[in-house]
Amino acid sequence: MIIDVHTLVKTYNVFVGEDISEELLSFIEKANYSNKSTLVTNSTVYPLYGKRIEEVLKNRFEVFTYIMPDGEEYKNIYEFIKIIDFLAENNLDRKSPLFALGGGVVGDIAGFAAAAFLRGIPLIHIPTTLLAQADSSIGGKVAVNHKKGKNLIGAFYQPDAVFSGIDFLHTLPDREWKAALAEVVKYGIIQDEGLFKYIEQNTEKILHRDRQTTLYIVKRSILNKTNIVQKDEKEKDVRQILNFGHTLAHALEKIGGYKTYRHGEAVAVGMVFASLLSWKLNICKKQVYERIKNVLRSFSLPVHVPSEFKTNDIYDVMRWDKKVVSDKLRFVLTENIGKVRIATDLELQMIVETINEVKG
Ligand SMILES: NC(=O)c1ccc[n+]([C@@H]2O[C@H](COP(=O)([O-])OP(=O)(O)OC[C@H]3O[C@@H](n4cnc5c(N)ncnc54)[C@H](O)[C@@H]3O)[C@@H](O)[C@H]2O)c1
Ligand SMILES: [Zn+2]
Repeated sequence: MIIDVHTLVKTYNVFVGEDISEELLSFIEKANYSNKSTLVTNSTVYPLYGKRIEEVLKNRFEVFTYIMPDGEEYKNIYEFIKIIDFLAENNLDRKSPLFALGGGVVGDIAGFAAAAFLRGIPLIHIPTTLLAQADSSIGGKVAVNHKKGKNLIGAFYQPDAVFSGIDFLHTLPDREWKAALAEVVKYGIIQDEGLFKYIEQNTEKILHRDRQTTLYIVKRSILNKTNIVQKDEKEKDVRQILNFGHTLAHALEKIGGYKTYRHGEAVAVGMVFASLLSWKLNICKKQVYERIKNVLRSFSLPVHVPSEFKTNDIYDVMRWDKKVVSDKLRFVLTENIGKVRIATDLELQMIVETINEVKG
């Protein structure tokens, strides 16, 4: 299946299938690139899939492979410089494509390097995690972290194509699989009731990574994200709904020193919090909150804030996080499954009370 993504600067294709090698081959054979390319990947993904992708690329290019260490802690400006050095030392030119093979970390840092080197070289994402296929490879955000915060240095940079092969996903650790499911559930809550129902009805198949089911949720996630970012490429308004559950999630990740939670796990707790808050404010029915909590629980995702996390600390971090944008704390609240709204000016008391209620 091919999904078109229309952006202000270009239209490109997202190829979704089981194995994407053939589509990749026919894409590079047609593209107007020079005869050198770079493959950026990491030390976990390279032994699994690196050679296979190199073989495809070698049909058309001389391939320079950069293997970064695995881990979010390497998504920083120093590793970014190393990638730039690698591109410069190998004399890659403006028409030499960079292929980012890996999860969101590789996609973000390699994408940022592609955006910056020579003011932009062609970028092709080959996402290998559920999170990267369903979320991070779509939308054009690329970045590295800074010690003051995640993704503090980055750009909007659209790829020439994305190749999402679900065959990559069978080696993904269980924890990564489940954490990413939280973002898939999120699409259901914010705008796709049909997807949410599908998830409710197919939890076992999803947990067992049944192929057809996986293909379906990946496709549907890509369509959802594409639909939102097309309406709002630079994150001014509509795109904010993607932050459902994320205000609390970011605070939990930060307080846990980015070690306690995978991002999706924190988002699961954040979505339970946001839907409880919505119910308490009479914006949604209790059943909506319960369905959200149940579906997350069925994937063994966390649905409580750890009791040792202090409510005041959480609140302070949430406020700090938002200060970057404005003085107001902004929450995405749910009216129903498939429909959300943005709320500002919520009472401190209500937020504190709700955090306490989500503690377990
Ligand atoms: N750009 C965006 O719009 C956007 C959106 C969401 C998240 N992100 C970023 O994405 C990153 C998280 O991405 P992630 O969850 O993919 O994490 P990740 O890239 O760290 O990958 C998770 C783990 O899985 C391993 N892995 C990757 N593919 C594998 C495979 N097929 N089989 C076995 N192991 C595999 C990785 O080496 C890593 O250890 C964060 O840095 C986050 O900020 C970006
Ligand atoms: Zn997220």
